[in-house]
Amino acid sequence: MRALVATADTATPVALLTVPEPRPRADEARVAVEAVSLNRGECRRLLSADSGWVPGWDVAGVVVDAAADGSGPPEGSRVVGLVDQGAWAERVAVRTDRLAVLPDGLSAVAAATLPVAGLTALLCLARGGQLLGKRVAVTGATGGVGVFALQLAALTGAHTTAVVSGPDRTTGLPEQGVDEVEVGLDHGDGRFDLILESVGGPLLAAALTRIAPGGRIVTYGNSSGQPTTIDIAAFYPRHDAALTAFRLFEDLDAHGGGSRHLDTLATLLDAGLLDVPIDVERPWGEGAKVVRALLDRRVAGKAVLTVT
Ligand SMILES: NC(=O)c1ccc[n+]([C@@H]2O[C@H](COP(=O)([O-])OP(=O)(O)OC[C@H]3O[C@@H](n4cnc5c(N)ncnc54)[C@H](OP(=O)(O)O)[C@@H]3O)[C@@H](O)[C@H]2O)c1
Repeated sequence: MRALVATADTATPVALLTVPEPRPRADEARVAVEAVSLNRGECRRLLSADSGWVPGWDVAGVVVDAAADGSGPPEGSRVVGLVDQGAWAERVAVRTDRLAVLPDGLSAVAAATLPVAGLTALLCLARGGQLLGKRVAVTGATGGVGVFALQLAALTGAHTTAVVSGPDRTTGLPEQGVDEVEVGLDHGDGRFDLILESVGGPLLAAALTRIAPGGRIVTYGNSSGQPTTIDIAAFYPRHDAALTAFRLFEDLDAHGGGSRHLDTLATLLDAGLLDVPIDVERPWGEGAKVVRALLDRRVAGKAVLTVT
């Protein structure tokens, strides 16, 4: 079968090549891939990957072989799923506890955006507890995780602030779900009950100064690649505020819920309560160009490749 394979060339980081078929374990279904979406983490990993590695976390397609242990959806089911690697291929083995059946009306292209970005948004927001009437800020607001996080926070009744990197960097913000927009976190003086932070560097330091007493900052990324110098004197007076770390795969390993949460996200998308933030949709033969666009910050929201 064909797959997008790491080349170890940063200018053209993937190429379509022939690779072996996946060999599913008993608890895995074999899925014929129709669409995949790209995430900053896997694109960045590509830059240092050995040639031959098949990346890919997010997958939507059709089950061609149900799991041998009888778990999960039967052959022919349209599904969305999350894998550790290898989704950028014609077929991939997916653990049935990270697979959900798609509502009839939901396209594979839309569904493919959900696994990493949607699950990260949903589970990071869950760290904030009950959000009705709470003030939630999301940094990296125009990114894949950010656009889902803002919309999900608004759905739970939170007051949302989208934190962007410049006044000209608002393209891609969702039409619904944004109450306020801030450039960075240095200029406002409002306090937030929950901050989802993925840019790192000085923005994380600024987040520490904007958290409310008892509030929580969930850090789950470092898109800037910069280290953070903090003024702890600005943080400890916020009695009981906390800085907590999140990693999606570890969270799912510890708590499960992958299928259930994917089902929730797909249902919200299908019902029109969540807007799918697709900025780029291209055939997978253009994978290298799309990876470069994402790494170079030329994608607002999600990029999707269709497997043709
Ligand atoms: N811990 C986990 O399990 C987990 C899960 C998912 C994602 N992540 C991480 O979370 C971050 C966001 O993921 P994503 O998929 O939403 O990424 P993305 O789609 O590429 O979005 C990145 C966002 O950050 C903003 N940004 C600000 N400064 C940036 C900089 N110096 N470099 C790059 N972007 C910058 C971008 O907007 P502008 O370009 O307009 O500034 C954009 O809004 C990534 O670092 C990713 O690796 C971690």
